[in-house]
Amino acid sequence: MGWGFVVVLLTVAVVCGRANSIGANWGTQASHPLPPDTVVRMLRENGIQKVKLFDAEYDTLRALGKSGIEVMVGIPNEMLSTLASSLKAAEKWVAKNVSTHISTNNVNIRYVAVGNEPFLSSYNGSYLNTTFPALRNIQTALTKADLQNQVKVTCPLNADVYETSTTLPSGGDFRADIRDLMITIVKFLSENGCPFTVNIYPFISLYNDDKFPLDYAFFDGGVSKPVSDGGTLYSNEFDANYDTLVHALEKNGFGNMQIIVGEIGWPTGGDKNANVENAKKFNQGFVDHISGGKGTPKRPEPIDAYLFSLIDEDAKSIQPGYFERHWGIFTYDGLPKYALNLGTTNTGALIQAKEVNYEMKKWCVMKPNVRLDDPQVAASVSLACSRGDCSGLGVGTSCGKLDGKDNVSYAFNSYYQIHDQEDKACKFSGISEVTKTDPSTGTCRFPIMILPYYGGAASHGQVFFLPLLMAAAIAMLSIF
Ligand SMILES: *[C@@H]1O[C@H](CO)[C@@H](O)[C@H](O)[C@H]1NC(C)=O
Ligand SMILES: *[C@@H]1O[C@H](CO)[C@@H](O)[C@H](O)[C@H]1NC(C)=O
Ligand SMILES: *[C@@H]1O[C@H](CO)[C@@H](O)[C@H](O)[C@H]1NC(C)=O
Ligand SMILES: *[C@@H]1O[C@H](CO)[C@@H](O)[C@H](O)[C@H]1NC(C)=O
Repeated sequence: MGWGFVVVLLTVAVVCGRANSIGANWGTQASHPLPPDTVVRMLRENGIQKVKLFDAEYDTLRALGKSGIEVMVGIPNEMLSTLASSLKAAEKWVAKNVSTHISTNNVNIRYVAVGNEPFLSSYNGSYLNTTFPALRNIQTALTKADLQNQVKVTCPLNADVYETSTTLPSGGDFRADIRDLMITIVKFLSENGCPFTVNIYPFISLYNDDKFPLDYAFFDGGVSKPVSDGGTLYSNEFDANYDTLVHALEKNGFGNMQIIVGEIGWPTGGDKNANVENAKKFNQGFVDHISGGKGTPKRPEPIDAYLFSLIDEDAKSIQPGYFERHWGIFTYDGLPKYALNLGTTNTGALIQAKEVNYEMKKWCVMKPNVRLDDPQVAASVSLACSRGDCSGLGVGTSCGKLDGKDNVSYAFNSYYQIHDQEDKACKFSGISEVTKTDPSTGTCRFPIMILPYYGGAASHGQVFFLPLLMAAAIAMLSIF
């Protein structure tokens, strides 16, 4: 009897430990994504037991097979209308992207994320009519495949689907213009035992509003005046935002609904508040804040969350801001950016990716004798930045202190590396040259690219790569 009790306790501890451990978002919009097997090994060595994906790319899922890692597969917004209008298409999607991987590859798929923040106001309502029917069709398809207990549907939404009428969490309700739709979706999720998934970003609150109190974005209790909501004290934005959702759900009769924080994190570059110190402070603060299952004032229960994100993605659209390419807790090549203790490794630090294959140790830089006012410079830089990635050059970020010439070299090198160090990719009107001396300075790393991986993930990256070149070119032209 005594032993039985111990075993039960242990089982409970193990089960809860797993469910509560922090997950990570694994996106692949990179010019040179790490091979999926390398990433899966890195996830395992770091004790990260849950990943959220943005699609159902075959090689990524194959690599996750037999790892035991819990997987949330994603359906991109562009597929919603097809899946909404055809149950057959939804059945095919489930057969190919869920059933096969579970039965033949042994992938631990637990969720299907239908769409990604489809109600963002910047989408102008494009997915308002298709999200719910797609969600319903995927649920029907899962049920037909007899997977409805094992695999749950959800829909990752931006926190702007709810608002508060009073500035306090207790005033929370769904946004007026989509309230009926939200209630339809929540009711459906509830009936099927599925969670509500929300992405919460204090960094964006700060980015959008210079007057946003900086310490309220973090978790270190540095807030001199906590916000009182009828006596309940809030000293950070995350708790207040999460509880606004809890109130919105409660107000509409779904007070017990399971919530997943689909994305949370802080970028290290591309904005004055995006640097290693702040990212470490926020992510470590969040991990510590939710450790031990403490929860929020309104819902003091374990929080289920996925960090955004695992690895930097140099081909993400920079339309929302340059910071978009700098969310990773790891660099593009799997190096930890800072000490982050997830409580899952023996050392208490992140463990870098193993067996990463790099290009040669050479860089493309501006020739030392060329002057900055040379008429070729501006045009060459804008070409380099249109194809390369100059998003790390902004003020306050790790490469923000480069001088004018180093700025130009940074742009040239980025173009050269993204083109796999081809000779012709370092021929900027006679003003550039290849060097074997690392031009990196202090906190600013001039990267060497990793060898291209010719799996499906790479081609996926390229799909996103081309359309954003124009935006990058225009943006960088105005800087130089
Ligand atoms: C499976 O997912 C992939 C990647 O998201 C997608 O391209 C493909 O169309 C899906 N398959 C089906 C049958 O819908
Ligand atoms: C939304 O509308 C704005 C303003 O009309 C436009 O600039 C933008 O391209 C539109 N976005 C989408 C995704 O349609
Ligand atoms: C959604 O449906 C409404 C009502 O039928 C229609 O007015 C609107 O144009 C549709 N929106 C889109 C993006 O298709
Ligand atoms: C280098 O580039 C960054 C970003 O484009 C810019 O803010 C900075 O002023 C530049 N530095 C010099 C010395 O030109």
